[in-house]
Amino acid sequence: MTLQGCFILLASYHIFSERAMRPVVAVEKLVFGGDGLARLSDGRVVFVPGVAPGEEVRLRIVREEKDYLLAEPEDILSPSPDRREPPCPYFGTCGGCQLQHLSYEAQVRVKTDMLRETLRRLGGLPEDLVEGVVPSPREFHYRHRLRFHVEPGTGALGFVKRRSHDLVLIRHCLLGEGSVNEVLQKLPESNAWRRLQAFTKRVKIEASPGEGLATLLFWITVEPLSADVEALAQELPRLKSVFYWVRGPKPRGPFPLDAPHGGRRLFPVPQKFFPETPNPCYFVRPGVFTQANWEINLRIIETLREVADSPPRVLDLHAGMGNFLFPLAVLSQEAQGVDTDPGAIADGEYTAAQLGLSRKVSLERLSAAETLLETWKAAETWPLVLLDPPRGGCRELLRYLPEVAKERIIYISCDPPTLARDLKFLLSAGYEVERILGFDMFPQTYHLEVLVSLKKRRG
Ligand SMILES: C[S@@+](CC[C@H](N)C(=O)[O-])C[C@H]1O[C@@H](n2cnc3c(N)ncnc32)[C@H](O)[C@@H]1O
Repeated sequence: MTLQGCFILLASYHIFSERAMRPVVAVEKLVFGGDGLARLSDGRVVFVPGVAPGEEVRLRIVREEKDYLLAEPEDILSPSPDRREPPCPYFGTCGGCQLQHLSYEAQVRVKTDMLRETLRRLGGLPEDLVEGVVPSPREFHYRHRLRFHVEPGTGALGFVKRRSHDLVLIRHCLLGEGSVNEVLQKLPESNAWRRLQAFTKRVKIEASPGEGLATLLFWITVEPLSADVEALAQELPRLKSVFYWVRGPKPRGPFPLDAPHGGRRLFPVPQKFFPETPNPCYFVRPGVFTQANWEINLRIIETLREVADSPPRVLDLHAGMGNFLFPLAVLSQEAQGVDTDPGAIADGEYTAAQLGLSRKVSLERLSAAETLLETWKAAETWPLVLLDPPRGGCRELLRYLPEVAKERIIYISCDPPTLARDLKFLLSAGYEVERILGFDMFPQTYHLEVLVSLKKRRG
């Protein structure tokens, strides 16, 4: 054998033996975060992305921690019948989606299992309390808002890569609505944007579904020329308005100055929620929180109305612009909402006026904790308290909540682990679960929204 032949033989033996030494595991389930959980032959837990329950997978270990390992799938040896070719070319590189390799039915099943498991493990709740997860009417193009990072120098837009801080540039996002994708494509070609992008790090493109248009909000480190910002709105015909955030509590805008409704986005809501208002609509400024998937948001509101069952008075401790509060206000005599975002409160007041609810609803810029404490000091109670916190949950509210929410709490959460923690406390503080229902607000990702209705036990 020649020397070259020897080298080839040795190299292929090395590759073959390395490959043979890579562990093969069976995926037990997917866990919150979207990774598959499997066990090595010595019992250690390993997490691996891009797999499905039941699959046999050859792994490449990428990191060892004290209690677990992280791996990448090298070969899927027995593909699950739920597996499909991920439709998005960025899947696997982009950090945005985790479940595109599964059929949509399988995603909903997996999320139901994840929710049950998380509430049982961290909250001690029986798994059969979770009724299921309501699928999204749209599997793709459901997101009416997307936030991008700006590539320094070129002004191109992208998301952060999986397990990295690098950018993956995006021309089209399968999750984004049509108008959002159109602005995403056209923005880097705009002359005004070429001038503005040098000092811009992030942008948010948000749809105005009632108008088939979009808005743009960008974060910039120096005060831009108004002429450039106005030119941007003109160069992109699908843009309703442009805002920018340079410093201070709220963004500057709208550009153009006379954009309808102060440049706000319009969200039509069903007539049955507001029977006395013709063509009811919510009005929301760019940057103010809105639920990402409007069709699923409307399903949540429907369930909320059913569960809340005409409460005489309702207090919403994370009211935002009034999304959940207004449809309940119509069914009650008094509705109060608080939120820490001044923009959300301003939009809530604007929307309440348009819906003819100003006299029934009061909105105030206050924190949930301050509100609870003041309510408790005044010995005031509410028959229904709504919670819809950011991911961190309601830990700081738990001390006073049972003193104020005398009958019912409806807790809407986007984070099952913190929800489980808070439910554990509330169950020990005298509440019982009436309903738990998931909503797939975020197809293709591991995220979901959960509605829990709790009732105070008698005696
Ligand atoms: C998940 S969003 C929900 C908003 C609204 N319920 C909706 O559906 O549009 C959470 C809201 O909590 C608000 N928030 C964050 N921290 C808060 C606090 N400490 N007290 C009251 N509101 C807070 C945010 O401004 C945001 O509007």
